Amino acid sequence: MPSLSASTLGHLLGDWRDTGSALRALAERIRLLLLDGRITSGTRLPAERELAAVLALSRTTVAAAYAHLRETGYVTSVRGSGSVIALPAVTPPGDARPAHVEIDLTRAALPAATTVLDLSRQAVEDLPRYLSGVGYDLVGLPELRTQLALRYTARGLATRPDEVLVTLGAQHAVGLLARALTSPGDRVLVESPGYPHALDAVRAVGGRPVAVPVAPTTATSPGGWDQESLEEAFARTRPALGYLMPGFHNPTGSVMPAAQRRRVCELARRYGTRLVVDETTNDLAIDGEVPPPFPSDVIHVGSAAKTLWGGLRIGWIRADAATVRRLAERRSPWELGTPVLDQLVVARALPDLDAVLAARGVELRARRDALLSEVGDRLPEWELPVVPGGLALWVHLGRALSSPLAVAARRYGVHVTAGPRFGVDGAFERYLRLPFGADPETLREAVARLAHAWNDVRATAPSPSPFAVLV
Ligand SMILES: Cc1ncc(COP(=O)(O)O)c(C=O)c1O
Repeated sequence: MPSLSASTLGHLLGDWRDTGSALRALAERIRLLLLDGRITSGTRLPAERELAAVLALSRTTVAAAYAHLRETGYVTSVRGSGSVIALPAVTPPGDARPAHVEIDLTRAALPAATTVLDLSRQAVEDLPRYLSGVGYDLVGLPELRTQLALRYTARGLATRPDEVLVTLGAQHAVGLLARALTSPGDRVLVESPGYPHALDAVRAVGGRPVAVPVAPTTATSPGGWDQESLEEAFARTRPALGYLMPGFHNPTGSVMPAAQRRRVCELARRYGTRLVVDETTNDLAIDGEVPPPFPSDVIHVGSAAKTLWGGLRIGWIRADAATVRRLAERRSPWELGTPVLDQLVVARALPDLDAVLAARGVELRARRDALLSEVGDRLPEWELPVVPGGLALWVHLGRALSSPLAVAARRYGVHVTAGPRFGVDGAFERYLRLPFGADPETLREAVARLAHAWNDVRATAPSPSPFAVLV
């Protein structure tokens, strides 16, 4: 059973206090860490005495917070194992469900593209060709690898089918790359804020993340990847792997400029770093062009999840043929291949993907603009980014209240992921990621409810110190 030390939990909790009851605030913050996936379900919590010492609280307060979590179904006491935190199997008692419909803004994704149903029917017609085989496919169907190679080639990156490996989505691709291309203890360059599951994948194989800051573009700042930090991170740590989202970075929406792309490639070559660019959201351009690919020595990761549908668990890796073979060999024993039918659907979709992307751009513009205007109207103190594509706004709240806001929002039936989930070390308490994948009406309702939640947390939070340091 995994266990959490008092100092790690203290670190994860960050600045958790508000002006209300300490036991409630502590219990709520521990619960949020669980709901956000920052504490794994089934983890043993530190002993009350040790946590009390780290947080400079009385043991009674910590005991009462644990008791509250126990009463609401999040903590069980196991004889000999102390207090174990886990997601409740059923709606916990005392956790009043709001009467209205829940709105989930924790995922940055869209519903299926309109063509997916028809394409799925057509793909069934292709299935008989494969039914006489065993169906375990570790590299990808020839027609899908060919179509993907053609798309890279059309984007300016000449690619052969044997330079493509089809995976179970981009997340699987990132995990596979981390496993195959790093050894425990290796440094891995990542972005902060960044995609939390990629960071989890790096940590899961014992990688040591080296964070490079990425800022959103705003009316007053160009944002993007901090050049000095990039230079310093490569030179100081010579990372084994570098993981970047240069096209519509999740969560900031930033796009890496051409000159910086060239420089990052130079640095990676100089310091022997395998560079991976995750282009999962790269095709979701709203205002301008789809960002171009990197040179062929950079490993590209792609996905059908945001363009077509997340329910099609299809992603891919574009790398040199030797790396592709090596990666295919590393798939078992974790999994034994990619579903054939899903691949056939995506292979059918790719020749007409540009039409799907054009429609996605129109849809996303309406959703992004609805969210921008509603937040602008109802929460004018929040600073909004300029986002030319992707699926989310990385909003500056002006106050370090992201986690309490996420907790309060749940009482109004809105689920959001607090800023610290996107950081390497729990920073970003002043930021909130707001995805705009939902329809405009749902987004407007979500913002109305968030405004209520914001009023609640502002009313109970201590006033900001004039000496607070901005992060
Ligand atoms: C940057 C990035 N990579 C990977 C993924 C996961 O993609 P998939 O659903 O294809 O596994 C996401 C999903 O949000 C993402 O934003």
